[in-house]
Amino acid sequence: MEPTDERTEPEPTFAGETVLVTGAARGIGRACAVRFAERGATVVGGDRLDQSETAATCAGLPGAFESVTADVTDPAAVEALVERAADTGRVDTVVNVAGIVAREPLATHDGEPWERSVAVNLTAPFRIAREAAPHLRTTGGAVVNVSSIYGQIGAAERAGYVSTKAGVEGLTRALAAELGEDGVRANAVAPGFIETPMTEPYAEDDAARERFRERAALKRLGDPEEVASVVSFLASDDASFVTGETVLVDGGRATVE
Ligand SMILES: NC(=O)c1ccc[n+]([C@@H]2O[C@H](COP(=O)([O-])OP(=O)(O)OC[C@H]3O[C@@H](n4cnc5c(N)ncnc54)[C@H](O)[C@@H]3O)[C@@H](O)[C@H]2O)c1
Repeated sequence: MEPTDERTEPEPTFAGETVLVTGAARGIGRACAVRFAERGATVVGGDRLDQSETAATCAGLPGAFESVTADVTDPAAVEALVERAADTGRVDTVVNVAGIVAREPLATHDGEPWERSVAVNLTAPFRIAREAAPHLRTTGGAVVNVSSIYGQIGAAERAGYVSTKAGVEGLTRALAAELGEDGVRANAVAPGFIETPMTEPYAEDDAARERFRERAALKRLGDPEEVASVVSFLASDDASFVTGETVLVDGGRATVE
């Protein structure tokens, strides 16, 4: 056959599948929810914020979006969220996106910044994966956790964030080891600077934005959709032999000088 520039491979489809996405109200979580709905999945979004914008964006797409108001640090809410996903008849993929970042010097980095980071960024993905595991074992499904470049490199005044993001990468490997024999894969993505409501305060002036751009090999900031692309790849059969892995989505920020 003659080589062709045209894309001949179909894009991964999630038609008939159920995908649970936390943090789906905005930013990276919303982009993930929309991506899976574009590709046919029923997406169950869990967030403590209103998710109506995500629902509106998903309306008319091949898949569907169901909104569940949930604080992922509340074990009862996590149980209800997973149950709601399972009520669709199956759970194929869990995407743990909900996260917080707190910037605070060590001296005052206790209580709220530390405890809350552990609860949202590490304990919640653990609990959600644990609750969803029986369903994922049935479907041979996948977990995708959202870490950060700060899971791999240090940053001043962000002890809680750096520690919990490194922790969620460890959790990803633990899940891969324990669930692998049932065909369940667990992977993580580690984004660099992505333009979302979370990063607005860090890029409020042009000089700061320029500094962040300059640090990445690609000399630009990332879009939530560029993270969603890697998340959906890791959830798809295209990644059928990939597990326990963390994929940087950072424009070369962490690995290129
Ligand atoms: N934006 C970036 O540059 C960047 C870089 C690396 C990693 N990340 C990670 O990506 C994920 C998403 O980040 P984002 O930039 O889209 O942030 P965001 O703040 O725009 O969105 C985070 C979402 O998580 C939800 N959330 C937070 N705590 C919650 C809780 N207790 N219960 C339920 N929902 C909760 C929020 O309501 C929000 O909708 C986070 O885990 C973050 O650490 C982001």
